This record gives sequence, structure tokens and C-alpha cells, in this order.
Amino acid sequence: MMYPSQGVAGVDMPVDAGTAVVSAEQITRDFKTGFGSVQVLRGIDLAIMPGEFVALQGRSGSGKSTLLNILVGLDDPTQGSVAILGQSLAGLNETQRAALRRERVGLLFQNAHLIPTLTAQENVEIALRLLGTASKERSARAQEVLERVGLKEKVDHRGLELSGGEQQRVALARALVHRPRFIIADEPTGNLDSLTGRNVITLFQEIVNQTGVGLLVATHDQRIASAAQRIIRIQDGLLV
Ligand SMILES: Nc1ncnc2c1ncn2[C@@H]1O[C@H](COP(=O)(O)OP(=O)(O)OP(=O)(O)O)[C@@H](O)[C@H]1O
Ligand SMILES: [Mg+2]
Repeated sequence: MMYPSQGVAGVDMPVDAGTAVVSAEQITRDFKTGFGSVQVLRGIDLAIMPGEFVALQGRSGSGKSTLLNILVGLDDPTQGSVAILGQSLAGLNETQRAALRRERVGLLFQNAHLIPTLTAQENVEIALRLLGTASKERSARAQEVLERVGLKEKVDHRGLELSGGEQQRVALARALVHRPRFIIADEPTGNLDSLTGRNVITLFQEIVNQTGVGLLVATHDQRIASAAQRIIRIQDGLLV
């Protein structure tokens, strides 16, 4: 898979190996509850560089998903700042954030969230449709990436005709097809059997090595932690 030096949507953002794909400074996040306020994140500093595969660990409820949402601008920190590829999120409105995610970020969750009535190919092409990629290129790139995740024979199967593991691999293909610079994955192997989970982990390693994407994976899966180059742990609202 080639790595573009320019955005697929023509937005000029040159690859800079020295700029973090994501950086966070002194992130806090308070949630209001019926009893007052709880501080889930209490001052997180973090930087992930291109070509880094980082695992985020921590017990259930420690704030992993909360942190990931903030790092991709789906939620705002109570205090502190986040930048994706050097672009501060604080100065961007919702439309601009959505555009940045569409062009630069790949998102993968525990559930694949495919559109069940569309084929694997069509589900993957959605990411490129949003960017206005021409039909021929869309089709070629969706096929290339589906082949990459081992689903060459299943491109015409509808979401509802795929197994859970196959659906998750389609979701991975969809997260990769626009060649993001930063990927976050929240428990991506949580619903997979161990062999399928291992395949996804191997794919993560290959993609990071070959494309220089930065990858942050929140996980309880010890195999992901072992495959990662770096492990960060969240405890009592802080990275330890
Ligand atoms: N919108 C919200 N309002 C109030 N509290 C919230 C909200 N979102 C998350 N929390 C609380 O923040 C804490 C951290 O939740 P989070 O989902 O980030 O944990 P996690 O580390 O991802 O856990 P898991 O491993 O179970 O996925 C939890 O105690 C949760 O109840
Ligand atoms: Mg979570």
C-alpha cells in the first residue's frame, strides 16, 4: 500500500516524520453526575509519532474510551489541548473536525458498524465516497484493501452475510482505505475469536510498518499489548 504525500481530498498536508500524529497536553475530563462531578482524566500528556503502534491499557472504567474520543475530537476535554498532525482541535468547528477525521483519521471500534444491506465493497467505498473519490479509483482501492485483510472472495457479500470476524475485517478495511495518518481502535479484537484476533493484530503491525501510520489501540487483549511497540497505562486518571 503506497503512502501518499498529499491528502486524498487534495488538502495539502505534507508528511512530516517529526510531527506527532496526535499530541495531548494536560487533558482533563470531568463528567457531571447526579452527585456532583467526577474527574475521569486528571492531566494526560501524550504524543504518538508516525510509525508508532501504541497499546492503551487500563481496567474497565479507567477512561480509555473517554481519552480516545477526545483525541479524535468526538468529545472535548474539560481542560487541556489536543492536536492531530500539528493541527489544534480547539480552533476547529464540528464540520472542520469531521473533515479532518474523514481525511486523516481511521476509526475502529469493538463492533464493526457495517451497513448490513450493503456489500463489503460498498461499505469500504463509503469512506472514499465522502471524499469525492472517482468511482473507478474507489472500486480499485476498496478491492485492494479488502484483499489485504483477506476478504478477496467476500467483496460482494452483504454485511449481514458475513461472520463477526469478517465484518470486523471489513471495518478495518474501511478504516484504512483513505490512507489515514492516525488510527485509533477501541477494543478492536473484543468480539473476535483468538485466531481472527491474531490476524487483525498481524495486520496492524504490517500496516504500521509499511505505511508509517500512527496507531493507538485501547485493549484488554494481552496479545495486542505484546505486539505494540509501546504500552501506556491509565490509572486514576493519569498515564502511568
Ligand atoms: N457521558 C458520560 N457521563 C458520565 N460518566 C461517563 C460518561 N462517559 C464515561 N463516563 C464514566 O467515565 C469512566 C470511564 O469510562 P470509559 O468508557 O472511558 O472507560 P474505559 O476505560 O473505556 O472502560 P472499558 O474498558 O470498560 O471500555 C466510567 O466511570 C464512566 O462511567
Ligand atoms: Mg472503553
